[in-house]
Amino acid sequence: MRVTYVLLSSSILSCVLGLNNLPLTTSGRWIKDNRGETVTYVGSNWPGHMSAMIPEGLQYQSIATIVGKIKGLGMNSIRLTYATEMVDDILDRGGQGNLPLKASLIKGLGERNGSDIFQKVIRKNPSFTEKTTRLEIFDAIAAECEKQGIILHLDNHISKAMWCCDTKDGNSWPGDQFYDSEKWKRGWRFMANHTRSWSAMASVGLRNELRSPDNNAALKSKSYNWSDWYDLVKSCAEGVSAANPNLLVFLSGLGFDTDLGPIPTGGDLGGGKVYRKSDFAKDKVVLELHNYQNREGDCSKIKGGMVRNGWNALNSNNPAVKNVFPVVMTEFGFEQDPKAAATVYATCLKDFFVSNRAGWMYWVFAGSYYNRQNNHDSDEKWGMLNHDWSDWRSPAVIQTYFKPMIRGTLKVR
Ligand SMILES: *[C@@H]1O[C@H](CO)[C@@H](O)[C@H](O)[C@H]1NC(C)=O
Ligand SMILES: *[C@@H]1O[C@H](CO)[C@@H](O)[C@H](O)[C@H]1NC(C)=O
Ligand SMILES: *[C@@H]1O[C@H](CO)[C@@H](O)[C@H](O)[C@H]1NC(C)=O
Repeated sequence: MRVTYVLLSSSILSCVLGLNNLPLTTSGRWIKDNRGETVTYVGSNWPGHMSAMIPEGLQYQSIATIVGKIKGLGMNSIRLTYATEMVDDILDRGGQGNLPLKASLIKGLGERNGSDIFQKVIRKNPSFTEKTTRLEIFDAIAAECEKQGIILHLDNHISKAMWCCDTKDGNSWPGDQFYDSEKWKRGWRFMANHTRSWSAMASVGLRNELRSPDNNAALKSKSYNWSDWYDLVKSCAEGVSAANPNLLVFLSGLGFDTDLGPIPTGGDLGGGKVYRKSDFAKDKVVLELHNYQNREGDCSKIKGGMVRNGWNALNSNNPAVKNVFPVVMTEFGFEQDPKAAATVYATCLKDFFVSNRAGWMYWVFAGSYYNRQNNHDSDEKWGMLNHDWSDWRSPAVIQTYFKPMIRGTLKVR
């Protein structure tokens, strides 16, 4: 009974986390709202970076329904992804490239399927028309998040809009085929400014899963290193913070965002360069990491690697840690069935998040994609939702895995 009461009160606490308590700041390893209350990100990813550049699932459900599922489960945040190409289309074509919904779906999905999906989208989301632009769809998601009290984290997922990520997909590292570093930074200045009107907007992820440019040996040997990483994220973050000083800025690491090793320890980034707090906006930097060690059978190896590769940033008592930050696992995931939720991987991460009160955002809040790698209406077995986004893919995983993990992570102790 008492336990029930404690759990209840913590979930009430997470509900009353009002968006009028933004902006967020960091304080040591914690993220705080403007009253000084701790905010731990507990959420999931909603992809908007794929070929249609329209957030997925809208042919099946309304934005209100999708955000309501997140809210109803007790999660507090959404990592919404976008492609730099969406902003390039706007800025390089004098605003003409902020394509309307129908044209964007047709461009991304082909004439027949694009038109078909368009009809379904406006049936489910009747406030949209042929003329609603890509950016207005993102605005509508932000407005719904505001209404339901869900924190929005905007993630630059890729440059050329498509499924991510591979070392040979041309989007791996600044200088790669599609990854123009100036356009990336320009895109962020634009989006950071644009999102000043979103009251649910709390934070940005500068770039998803930086990785080795394996298609380009010269770029790889001369630039894929910590020293360049530092200069790139520093100047990108400067643009974000200048355009919208309220935002938290999440830094993601090398190796598909599995490694931020030298940042907490203040290690040498090359030529004596080290992380310096004064290079970034004060109390605004968060580290983000991903983990997909789905086949690892030893939890101590998973946790040990996580701590070595950046999660030690949480621990101010560790003498090796010079820079303490909040850390959020902005991606991890597995096939939505009870067997996968019972693996060492899934249970180990759950235990880590709960015991550390560490933030996480599951990959992925979806049931299917308009088109993934040329598969029309592609089913997402790792998605929390079923194919038509109407219900949970595995109610058992929701009950036995997500619900206790949400309660456990948010529980105030
Ligand atoms: C920032 O956004 C506003 C609209 O929200 C726009 O009027 C203004 O031109 C933008 N500023 C920059 C520098 O892009
Ligand atoms: C990283 O790349 C830069 C840019 O090409 C180069 O000047 C520097 O020497 C490299 N640093 C390391 C540690 O390899
Ligand atoms: C369009 O959709 C149909 C199924 O309705 C599918 O067979 C076809 O491959 C799709 N075309 C494209 C270009 O995705």
